[in-house]
Amino acid sequence: MPDEEEQVVIKVRDSGPYKVTGPIRLTDADGVEIPLPDDGRAVVLCRCGRSRTTPFCDRSHACRPADTAVVHAGLPAPEQGAPFLPGPVFAAPFHFEGDGGDGDDAPFYGRYANPTWAGWESALGELEGGEAVAFASGMAAASAVLLPLLEPGDVLVAPSDGYYTLRTLAERQLVPRGVEVRYVPTRADAVRGALEGATLVWLESPSNPLLDVLDIAAVAAEAHDAGALVAVDNTLATPLRQRPLELGADFAMASAAKQLTGHSDLVLGYVAAAEPERAEALRTWRTTTGSIPGPFEVWLAHRSLATLGVRVERQERNAAAVAQLVADREDVPWSRWPGLGCVVSFDLADADRARRFLSAAKLVAEATSFGGVHTSAERRARWGGDDVSPGLIRLSVGVEDRQDLLADIARALDVAGA
Ligand SMILES: Cc1ncc(COP(=O)(O)O)c(C=O)c1O
Repeated sequence: MPDEEEQVVIKVRDSGPYKVTGPIRLTDADGVEIPLPDDGRAVVLCRCGRSRTTPFCDRSHACRPADTAVVHAGLPAPEQGAPFLPGPVFAAPFHFEGDGGDGDDAPFYGRYANPTWAGWESALGELEGGEAVAFASGMAAASAVLLPLLEPGDVLVAPSDGYYTLRTLAERQLVPRGVEVRYVPTRADAVRGALEGATLVWLESPSNPLLDVLDIAAVAAEAHDAGALVAVDNTLATPLRQRPLELGADFAMASAAKQLTGHSDLVLGYVAAAEPERAEALRTWRTTTGSIPGPFEVWLAHRSLATLGVRVERQERNAAAVAQLVADREDVPWSRWPGLGCVVSFDLADADRARRFLSAAKLVAEATSFGGVHTSAERRARWGGDDVSPGLIRLSVGVEDRQDLLADIARALDVAGA
């Protein structure tokens, strides 16, 4: 029995593959022993609440604070003369003798496995509190959840105001095969109203580009009661600010091209699953469709992950200041920052004014995407995929000096005029 300090938390779930092993006793507050279910329905949560597989807090991985985890997660144990992060492994076939079989899990071909993926996936799994599978892009990751899961007659509930390529995917790949897609805005009551008969509920909170948020835990519980699975696009918050699996989601998916890696130099994605069987199904999908990440991008991503904590801290402080600046200006009719993340959206009412702002700002690179260390922005309506005002600016705040950035944005707003 662990001592008071090392007490583990045990939750019983309706389903799940986890078994309680080891000398664990479950007691109520008075110390009266409660028998553990012996049918495998028990999940052992680490005291930190994040690890579902490690019954005791050994301070080695899941129990460390996330700011420490981003620096160390997925790295091998220190070895004399070895680098902290081993270099990328480039291989199509690996040397592999014999017929394989039980216990021989050495990589044999680069579409199935790559040692560089393993460290990155272990880091993502630790951060999201599940089992992570890396993909070639965020859309490859989203496809790996949606396409194998949804069959004719199934119902997908998806955001009408989230990342628009998800809707394109649904329209081009799901609707033609007989999946019903119900689009709802990112509001709990709207999702709730669409749950009847749903197979999968896809959430994006904060949503991109209008930064709406909803109570993921409440919506996930209701979706599960209605018999649906729940996936959350966690791109904007990153697992440093939000862990959807802990909030009850079955999948946490993200584009790793954004703040997670932060240097605007790679495209990757991932899905973390709460249940190992679902992670296994995602790996099978990746292997058979070939939507695999390149080892060099994965290595770059893992290298960049170490600074996620400091980048998030700096970018959020800068974003809060930019949000205050635009909120205080009478010539900015609408603005929003959800209190986390690096994206501030604001409306300059018409397209010309937005264009004047973008060309006047010297520290704000005109570019799509978000989350990088360089401040960037775009007039979101230029792509035509979102139902937004022609003057909507989605601004991603970087790590530049705050006063410098504020002065540049204020000056560009002055130049843009009313
Ligand atoms: C919220 C969100 N989800 C998913 C994606 C898709 O990711 P990727 O571009 O890596 O395919 C994006 C990309 O812009 C995004 O903003």
